[in-house]
Amino acid sequence: MKILLLEGVHQACIDRFSQAGYQPELRKSAVSEEELLRVISGVHVLGIRSKTQVTKKVLDAAESLLAVGCFCIGTDQVDLSAAAVRGIPVYNAPFSNTRSVAELAMAEMVMLARRAAHKSQLLHQGVWEKSAEGCVEVRNKTVGLIGYGHIGPQVGLLAESFGMKVYYFDIIGKLPFGNATPVASLEELLKVSDFVSLHVPETAETRNMIGTKELGLMKRGAFLLNLSRGKVVDLDAVRAALQNGELGGAAIDVFPEEPASNEDPFSTPLMGLDNVILTPHIGGSTIEAQRNIGLEVASTLLKFIEVGSTTGSVNFPQVELPIVRESHRILNIHRNVPGVLSSINTIIAEMGGNIQAQYLNTLGDVGYLIIDVDHQISQAVKSKIDELPTSIKTRLLF
Ligand code: NAI
Repeated sequence: MKILLLEGVHQACIDRFSQAGYQPELRKSAVSEEELLRVISGVHVLGIRSKTQVTKKVLDAAESLLAVGCFCIGTDQVDLSAAAVRGIPVYNAPFSNTRSVAELAMAEMVMLARRAAHKSQLLHQGVWEKSAEGCVEVRNKTVGLIGYGHIGPQVGLLAESFGMKVYYFDIIGKLPFGNATPVASLEELLKVSDFVSLHVPETAETRNMIGTKELGLMKRGAFLLNLSRGKVVDLDAVRAALQNGELGGAAIDVFPEEPASNEDPFSTPLMGLDNVILTPHIGGSTIEAQRNIGLEVASTLLKFIEVGSTTGSVNFPQVELPIVRESHRILNIHRNVPGVLSSINTIIAEMGGNIQAQYLNTLGDVGYLIIDVDHQISQAVKSKIDELPTSIKTRLLF
């Protein structure tokens, strides 16, 4: 099995592959399409971060490729549908940095409540402003979490340890962690919160979900945090609310337009305002998160190579089936058209085989089937299934 890992993935990932008996080939930087076309043939597993582009052309040349692991959150750099129809699942690690975001949000609540960022800025300019005016503890204050998926509850648990009361609003009914209280509407959440922290994805519904009207519903002098997605908050409205005192401060980590690289310029309507913490989309950027990403993606890739599990893949039908020890496992990726399962079961029946376990799932044009069969006939069954016109890729695991 040839595993090629690009862009200097974390050592934890390399160790995970080594422990499992694989020796990945490593490259420190991203490679161009031209270079990837040169090296991809013969590669079974490709690991990248955000810079290497896995285009349709690359996938066409990758005749041995079984899976792609993106050691990051985004997967835009891979042509996902082209990979799916070629039978190649793509994995990422969307939740490895959950705790990192939650910690920054918690720290920012304290910093905003104490006007500490502003005082630090002044001190850098030689201005000594020792005063308790407008500075409060977060203890006994309320935090309202918008979005209670992975990050929201973590912020809630940290906030409770600081003695805060936690409310949350989510469009899906979610069980509370700790003593958190769900509320029925966004309006209600905005009205009861001293701090409002956003943890939603960017969707048609969440775009500009916090604007002039919503800011007007918040308690006077309350604080707003956005460490989710830039387009969720109308920053011109936030600027106006900060200037007229409706908002007591804001911490913003994500912006509607972000520079493509550290060399590009940046500007936002919130620059130069008092008690505003601006961070360059670093909520999830920690060494621990990088390590977790390395481990998580390596583990999901190994599970696919060794067991055929596609759970966690972003472009593929999700299939997970416990191993049946006495049998061999056939993994069949096929075009999602009627009759595939019956053709495959007929092949097995005609060979007098016994199916120990079987699981099929489909997504779009692709179907993924795992079958555990008697080891005496597994090789012959695999060859017959391979010959079916509907088959894209078939593998046999012993
Ligand atoms: P998640 O998908 O686990 O949770 C999102 C929650 O928001 C879900 O429970 C969903 O039901 C809820 N939701 C969706 N639409 C809603 C609406 N209109 N009103 C209320 N709730 C709604 O996502 P996770 O992992 O908690 O991440 C949250 C956000 O944080 C995402 O936008 C993600 O991109 C961002 N993020 C930012 C990072 C940073 O560096 N600042 C790092 C990691 C994630």
